[in-house]
Amino acid sequence: MLLDDRLSKELEKLKRENLYRARTVRQGKQGALIRIGECEYLNFSSNDYLGLASHPLVIQAFKAGLDTYGVGSGGSALITGNTQIHQKLEEKLAERTKRSKVLLFNSGFTANVGIIDALVGRGDHLLLDRLSHASLIDGARLAGAKLLRYRHVDMDHLDQLTEKKQAKTWVVTESLFSMDGDQAPLQQIADLCDRRSAHCYVDDAHGFGVYGENGAGCVNAAGLSQQEVPVLIATFGKAVGVGGAFVAGSEVLVETLIQKARTSIYTTAMPPAQAAAILQSLELIEKEAWRREKLFERIAQFRKGACDRQIPLADNAHGPIQPIILKDSEKVMNVSNALLNKGIKVSAIRPPTVPRGTARLRITITAAHKKEHVDKLLSALSDILNHV
Ligand SMILES: Cc1ncc(COP(=O)(O)O)c(C=O)c1O
Repeated sequence: MLLDDRLSKELEKLKRENLYRARTVRQGKQGALIRIGECEYLNFSSNDYLGLASHPLVIQAFKAGLDTYGVGSGGSALITGNTQIHQKLEEKLAERTKRSKVLLFNSGFTANVGIIDALVGRGDHLLLDRLSHASLIDGARLAGAKLLRYRHVDMDHLDQLTEKKQAKTWVVTESLFSMDGDQAPLQQIADLCDRRSAHCYVDDAHGFGVYGENGAGCVNAAGLSQQEVPVLIATFGKAVGVGGAFVAGSEVLVETLIQKARTSIYTTAMPPAQAAAILQSLELIEKEAWRREKLFERIAQFRKGACDRQIPLADNAHGPIQPIILKDSEKVMNVSNALLNKGIKVSAIRPPTVPRGTARLRITITAAHKKEHVDKLLSALSDILNHV
């Protein structure tokens, strides 16, 4: 059978099962309102939690970075791609996260894959929350670790699994879960790691910028030291509004990753102008605390309004990610399309991104939303959910 014939059959199957994914083509800037084709939509689908992706000062910093450094970095960080501005960004991040040293990556996905592959030995035990991001799973697979999945935020299950350990053990978790919006009990996980001599690895992709002192993230908010969480990663593609990622930890950790993380060594370094934009965004996160306050006001407005209208929310999701679990992929697609018809963009999340039977709307609230935007979403949801 020809390759295209085989692939077409697979695609048809995905369509029949309502699991086919299509990209939307946005025009113009990211924001509370976005343009797709001829229409403008109220956007409840972005991870730009603080409304910084189109901030004039971040754009200006990017442009100034282009004038100073040119467009591309021109090489990997170990050759000539690493610049003064990358170094300045790493220093700023180390200071903000209260870690000794930082190393930049081009994305959160490549950070997780490269770091886990570099640190975790073949045959080490890697314990991962069942609802963890694909990049953490892929990192564990690439490293050849024995991957053990514990039930979502279930500390008893994690405890049982670490009790039997015979090998070097790693506990890896997201801080704020990307599809469920709830938080991992970081202090308990760190305590357990201490008790069981396991190494704690936290992916703070969705917490960085939103929680903690000056947006330093969930690990900072929980007051966890470098010793308690020796490997901390976060991304710049969510609340920071740009793109890229970093790992923060001890000097020895970062030096090891400089030597061994293949997704850092064998890739062109982040464009310097991007690092300049990230630095500007970090400054805004520090100076404009009102963005985080506004975000949490909107979240509270959404949760109260949903509760008043009996819209089923996740009990433990108190941050910017608000899932509505409808279970069935067809139903989720229908609701997402009905919202689109009312001028509102909300993502339909289906397997394999989430486990079978847990298809959901993934609503993201941002500081760029106005009160009336959230009101409009609530009344549309309430209308549509009463008729499906
Ligand atoms: C928990 C988590 N880790 C890592 C990533 C990947 O980050 P990036 O978009 O920077 O590749 C994501 C983004 O989807 C995520 O949700």
